[in-house]
Amino acid sequence: MIPEEQNKALDSWQVSARYWDKYRTLIAQIFAPLTSGLIEEAQIGIGQNVLDVGGGTGEPSLTISRIVGPKGSVTYTDPVAGMVETAQAEASRLSLANIHFRQCSADDLPFADRTFDVAVGRLSAMFFVDPATAVREALRVIREDGYVSFVVWGPKEANPFFSAVTDVIDQFVEVPPQDPDAPETFRFAAPGKLVGVLENAGAKNVIERRLNFQIEAPISFEQFWELRTEMSGTLRDKMARLMPTQRPTVKCAVADAVQRYFVRGTMSFAAEALIVSGRKSAG
Ligand SMILES: C[S@@+](CC[C@H](N)C(=O)[O-])C[C@H]1O[C@@H](n2cnc3c(N)ncnc32)[C@H](O)[C@@H]1O
Repeated sequence: MIPEEQNKALDSWQVSARYWDKYRTLIAQIFAPLTSGLIEEAQIGIGQNVLDVGGGTGEPSLTISRIVGPKGSVTYTDPVAGMVETAQAEASRLSLANIHFRQCSADDLPFADRTFDVAVGRLSAMFFVDPATAVREALRVIREDGYVSFVVWGPKEANPFFSAVTDVIDQFVEVPPQDPDAPETFRFAAPGKLVGVLENAGAKNVIERRLNFQIEAPISFEQFWELRTEMSGTLRDKMARLMPTQRPTVKCAVADAVQRYFVRGTMSFAAEALIVSGRKSAG
């Protein structure tokens, strides 16, 4: 990725920070199964020192801080200032004293070797500029028998929360051919792809677990539309490229496409994620 594109991506996350913060309660609720899966897979427990890579507005750091308790700690990292600020503000609001914050990129972690028990990332690995270097960095900073664990989205077709909207919008905007290795939501959707990155980076006993769950909340289509078109940089860009007269047509077409996921005041989408974990040393 050329530096100009990297900066553009980080600027887009800076704008997203505001919206991820605005919808923080809803996002925490709909993505909670990802946090639970990650915590289980990385075997996080009381007293551990955990690194969160690409923590966004605070998850999974905020949840893990309660699990590890006062004898443990969480170190939250993210390269985007706006994300760090919102996560830090939320930790203060919740009086969580065992979280430390560092603004940094996954491929250049400012920590000594073997500082942490475990390193995790929720929905961040697909956006790393250089995933191989990032995984090597995560392995470097965990102790010899530690774990790294990343949760990423599974295939687009298994995630209508995303695809039902983009499939419609993409009929109205020109979508240039995608580089399968460009940072985007479904970069690691192919089974085995992130496993390969971990193995090439030197992780041992790498396993991939498929996590099927429902993205569920008591919200209307209107609230869903607002949430999706604000929190995603890609959708914000695509919406901005539509002519103003096209926008109501697109919204109506999306409403039709997702109608079956809204029943009696509840949104419920089937979803699929992959949790990929490995150890620093075999055994
Ligand atoms: C989809 S958000 C997920 C945030 C949070 N972990 C969550 O699950 O709510 C992706 C995050 O990856 C971060 N990110 C982007 N590039 C990164 C990089 N090079 N290193 C670490 N994190 C990065 C973004 O700033 C953003 O906060």
